[in-house]
Amino acid sequence: MTQGKLWGGRFTQPTDKFVEEFTASIEFDQRLYRYDIRGSKAHAEMLGRQGIISDEEAEQIISGLNTIMEDIETGKVVFSVELEDIHMNIEARLIERIGAVGGKLHTGRSRNDQVAVDIRLYLRDEIDTILGYLQQLEASLIKQAEANLDVIMPGYTHLQTAQPVLYSHHMLAYREMIARDHSRLQDLRARFNLMPLGAGALAGTTFNIDREWVAEQLGFDGVTSNSLDSVSDRDFAIEFCSFAGILMMHLSRLSEELILWSSADFNFIELSDAFCTGSSIMPQKKNPDVPELVRGKTGRVYGNLISLLTLMKSLPLAYNKDMQEDKEPLFDTIDTVKGSLKVFADMIAEMQVKGDNMRIAAARGFSTATDVADYCVRKGLPFRQAHEVVGKTVRYCVETGKDIPELTLDEFRQFSPLIEQDIYDCVTLEASVNARKATGGTAREAVERELARLKK
Ligand code: ARG
Repeated sequence: MTQGKLWGGRFTQPTDKFVEEFTASIEFDQRLYRYDIRGSKAHAEMLGRQGIISDEEAEQIISGLNTIMEDIETGKVVFSVELEDIHMNIEARLIERIGAVGGKLHTGRSRNDQVAVDIRLYLRDEIDTILGYLQQLEASLIKQAEANLDVIMPGYTHLQTAQPVLYSHHMLAYREMIARDHSRLQDLRARFNLMPLGAGALAGTTFNIDREWVAEQLGFDGVTSNSLDSVSDRDFAIEFCSFAGILMMHLSRLSEELILWSSADFNFIELSDAFCTGSSIMPQKKNPDVPELVRGKTGRVYGNLISLLTLMKSLPLAYNKDMQEDKEPLFDTIDTVKGSLKVFADMIAEMQVKGDNMRIAAARGFSTATDVADYCVRKGLPFRQAHEVVGKTVRYCVETGKDIPELTLDEFRQFSPLIEQDIYDCVTLEASVNARKATGGTAREAVERELARLKK
């Protein structure tokens, strides 16, 4: 074989050295080695069972692959760029180890279906890890909610004080987002858990293989249905990156709030020192680096999704070398999502809440104005008129420098004679929060019901 290449037969001249490096993927696809070997072992065993190779040959191949696995795990293997990718690095080593019989492994298979099965196996494992991290983050958010049920904070729209809400309710809003991410990830995992091996290069194989048996060995729910699609489909990687983009968008929103809340101006929370760093010039600084970085990393995850979509756009069927470029964006997304989730789960669990400061802020900005309007409505005033009454009341408060609960009954009654002594029961923060009892509202009893439901 020319220059020791597994595909060298057709070539008379060696590959240009730079081209060799340029076209190689071993530098990044070596992380697939475990899955490549796993897929190969199942394939070899099937070849033996089907009588395509002898049982003895299958055994030799499998034990050869086992020792290569050990060698890689113990750092004994130096991967070579001349062998291009992880598939050929392992196959060449196998042949080196067990001799010509190693060359029978690739019977009825192509690197095109091989790489497709490798990425799926790898991604499936990573998804299972990520599902665990998502669950931990959900648990941290629930823990925050449970531990701070007394804390009332300002709820915002337009980042302007709107109505008071329970801090727990706010935390559980993020739990909802993470729960949707969780279910999106489960959905896409189920959709792609089908085995592409057997598609060969593109058209299938002339050998009497048993795809279903291999699929079962590798934990797939079944086999893919069309060989052309099997080797050219990267939807699962795109779906994963799209899941990741949405997840990072959620983490970035939470990051933004944590950054604001830990500023001297809000002063709502204290992040543990373990998740912050200082400034090399300003001694007083404690910077919320972790949420800042997660917010920043959101950009690269979006970028990876766009890379993959653009990569696949306009590719004719079936495999194209372009598709080797699927790995780095996918791997980077996996690494970024895992890192972000892991650090977030711990940071949220340890976050200290400054309930008094939140409460003071919640009382500012006439946050119970809607409650006065609702009060007037219950006394018979149409909502639009009630809105007008309270608008005037607020203007009066602004002019006199008073807060709504500080107004005397006479002052209230300038704006509507419907207002009576019991208005004072409506304008406390607790009353405002606890009046919103319907499912999904911020009343303590509604939030407690929700927590109880989540515990189940
Ligand atoms: N390294 C290649 C990739 O990642 C493996 C498949 C190569 N197939 C081929 N026909 N060159 O896509």
